[in-house]
Parts: sequence; structure tokens; C-alpha cells
Amino acid sequence: MLAMGEMVAFVASLAIFSLLISFDGGNALSLDYYTETCPKVEEAVTAAVKKATANDRTVPAALLRMHFHDCFIRGCDGSVLLKSVGNNTAEKDGPPNISLHAFYVIDNAKKAIESMCPGVVSCADIVALAARDAVVISGGPTWEVPKGRLDGRVSKAIDTRLLPSPAFNFSQLQQSFSQRGLSTEDLVALSGGHTLGFAHCSSFINRVNNFDSTHNVDPTLNPSFAASLRKTCPAHNKVKNAGATLDSTTATFDNAYYKLLTQGKGLFSSDQALLTNPKTKNLVDKFATSREAFDEAFVKSMIKMSSLTGGQEVRLDCKVVR
Ligand code: HEM
Ligand SMILES: *[C@@H]1O[C@H](CO)[C@@H](O)[C@H](O)[C@H]1NC(C)=O
Ligand SMILES: *[C@@H]1O[C@H](CO)[C@@H](O)[C@H](O)[C@H]1NC(C)=O
Ligand SMILES: *[C@@H]1O[C@H](CO)[C@@H](O)[C@H](O)[C@H]1NC(C)=O
Repeated sequence: MLAMGEMVAFVASLAIFSLLISFDGGNALSLDYYTETCPKVEEAVTAAVKKATANDRTVPAALLRMHFHDCFIRGCDGSVLLKSVGNNTAEKDGPPNISLHAFYVIDNAKKAIESMCPGVVSCADIVALAARDAVVISGGPTWEVPKGRLDGRVSKAIDTRLLPSPAFNFSQLQQSFSQRGLSTEDLVALSGGHTLGFAHCSSFINRVNNFDSTHNVDPTLNPSFAASLRKTCPAHNKVKNAGATLDSTTATFDNAYYKLLTQGKGLFSSDQALLTNPKTKNLVDKFATSREAFDEAFVKSMIKMSSLTGGQEVRLDCKVVR
């Protein structure tokens, strides 16, 4: 673990780093964005995340994934929160929405914030803060979140095609990330988000049933791990919410994800794919052996992903455009 002084210096250096990066030439983010207009915004988000997590341990994973989805479609603009209206089907009702949940946590935080400082804090910023709080509450590192994102007015189910698929190979993953200005190091570090949460059989069943023309089971999987996945997810799985946790410590933010990956116990093909490129394999090995290296890289990459902005307004209700 880092000593407190080192931690402060580390967080401070990341904060400076974050002020220097801007990807889309959009609105600039800053750490003190709400200092004058809504000084208690972070406390309100943290309170909402804590309250929900106390009732439901799956909340932090949901909030972290929500931010990832938000940022990968039209930038972090709260588009993931909008509800379908009229003939427009929104992202949240798009195909890979299984396991996107806990939207009520964002709504609760927004309500508390609107009563303190109406019309000032974007929903996109609330999602970014909630993702950070989700990591901290699960035992992960903390960081200062640059703020000032604006909310978007467009959310289309069809855009969820732009999210990386769990069946992606390395070059597809690399392309998906580089289209958003994210590097292969960001890819490896952010995949560490899979230290939290749960996946449904549909996300990985291809690896344990009819994998390819010569293998029924993906040969890169650890055999006993594969056998347990096959048991949970038989070829014609009928159990509605059957699935597996993404790592062995599903509610704890740690580097177990990388340790398991090196043992053939990563859940998705996209996780396994990180071992198929020498550079990313080296990073997986590094993060598997050093919790500090993982934490540091994760924070840096989260700030980068989280700074992909794209909105135009501050919504009053996170589910509807103004
Ligand atoms: C690299 C590309 C990625 C792919 C292909 C991917 C794919 C997936 C899939 C298929 C699921 C399970 C959905 C289900 O079956 O219910 C999932 C869950 C999850 N992902 Fe990713 N993901 C990626 C990157 C990320 C990133 C960058 C983060 C955050 C930093 C993240 C955080 C999560 C979390 C926390 C869950 C668990 C959600 C829950 O339990 O509610 N993922 N991901
Ligand atoms: C969707 O609804 C809008 C407004 O109600 C309308 O202008 C548009 O033509 C509709 N589009 C389709 C494809 O039905
Ligand atoms: C996911 O989409 C389905 C069908 O489009 C919808 O019924 C469901 O409510 C959505 N789930 C979430 C969590 O929004
Ligand atoms: C990755 O997948 C794409 C699309 O299926 C394919 O064209 C490409 O050859 C694959 N790359 C590798 C290295 O397998």
C-alpha cells in the first residue's frame, strides 16, 4: 500500500494530469467546477451510493459499468440514463442492457442535489462521481473527479452496437478503445473494472458450448473453471438469471481479476484476449503481481475515459431531456 503522503502526492499528480487532457475540444472539465455553485455535490452523491450499497451489494458494479457505457457512446453525457420516448428507443433499452441497473441511485442523488442547487449539476457528472464512489466503497483507490460535463439530448438503442463485445479479439478491442483516444494500456487497466460484478450466461456461453469447429470448449480456459461454467450455463440454459461473477471477489475492488486471467480463469473472450498481445500480456502480469501498479493505472485511465465529454445542457430529471 502507498503511504498517506505518497497517496496525496499521487492523487495530486493525477489531478494535474487530468487538467491537461482534453479529447474532443468540448467543454473543459475542472476539479473546482462546482466549488461556488454547488459545494456539497460530492457529499450528496457519496451518500446516495452508500445508502443504496448498504441495501444491495451489487450496486457498485452497476454504477461502474454504467459510467463505462455512458462514456463509450457519445462521450460521458448521461445518454445512458435517458428513457425511451415515443418512437425513440433509448440506449438503456438497447440489446446489451442486461445487468445495467441501479439507475435509481443516480435519480436519488439528482433529487438531493436539485434541492440544494437547482439546475446546476449535470447527470453525466453524477454518474462519473458515482463510479468513483463505487470503486472506493468496494475497497479500491480514490481520485479527484474532474467535473463540468454536460448532458446530451440523444440516446439511441442502435448506438449500443458501438460498445465492445465480450467476444472481441485483441485487435477489435484495440480499435474500439483507440477510436475514443484510449490506449492499449487504458484497455488493460480499465478491463480491471471486471474485478466487480456479475455476468449472464449469454455473455460467455460461446466459450463453453460449441466454441469453434474443432473445440466444444475454448482451449484457453482452465479445464476445471470451464467445467464449472458449463454446469452453470448448459447449452440450452433455461435459468433466467444464471451466470457467474467476474472474479472470485465480486464485491471487492482488487487485482484478483488479473491473477485469475493468468490462470485461464477470465470470464470473457475479451478478457482472455488481453493475453494474446505481448504488450498487454506484460501489463496483465504486472497488474497481477502489483496491486499498486493496477490502482495507479486504473485511476489514470478512468480519468481519461471519464473526460470524453459530449453534452449540451444540464438536465433537471436525468431520464428526460430539457
Ligand atoms: C474491454 C471491453 C469490455 C467488454 C467487452 C465488457 C463486457 C462486459 C460484459 C459482457 C459484461 C456482463 C454483462 C452481463 O452479462 O450481464 C460486463 C460487466 C461488467 N463490466 Fe465490462 N466490458 C468491458 C469493459 C469494461 C470497463 C472499461 C468497465 C469499467 C471500468 C467495465 C465494468 C464492468 C462491470 C463493473 C461489470 C459488472 C456489472 C454488474 O455486475 O452489474 N467493463 N462487461
Ligand atoms: C418518430 O416520431 C417523430 C415525432 O413524433 C416523427 O416526426 C417521426 O417521423 C417518427 N419517426 C418514425 C420513423 O416513425
Ligand atoms: C432492457 O431492455 C428491455 C427490452 O428492450 C427492457 O424491457 C428492460 O427494461 C431494459 N432493462 C433496463 C435495466 O433498462
Ligand atoms: C479479429 O476479429 C476480426 C473480426 O472477426 C478478424 O477480421 C480478425 O482477423 C481477428 N484478428 C485476429 C488477430 O484474430
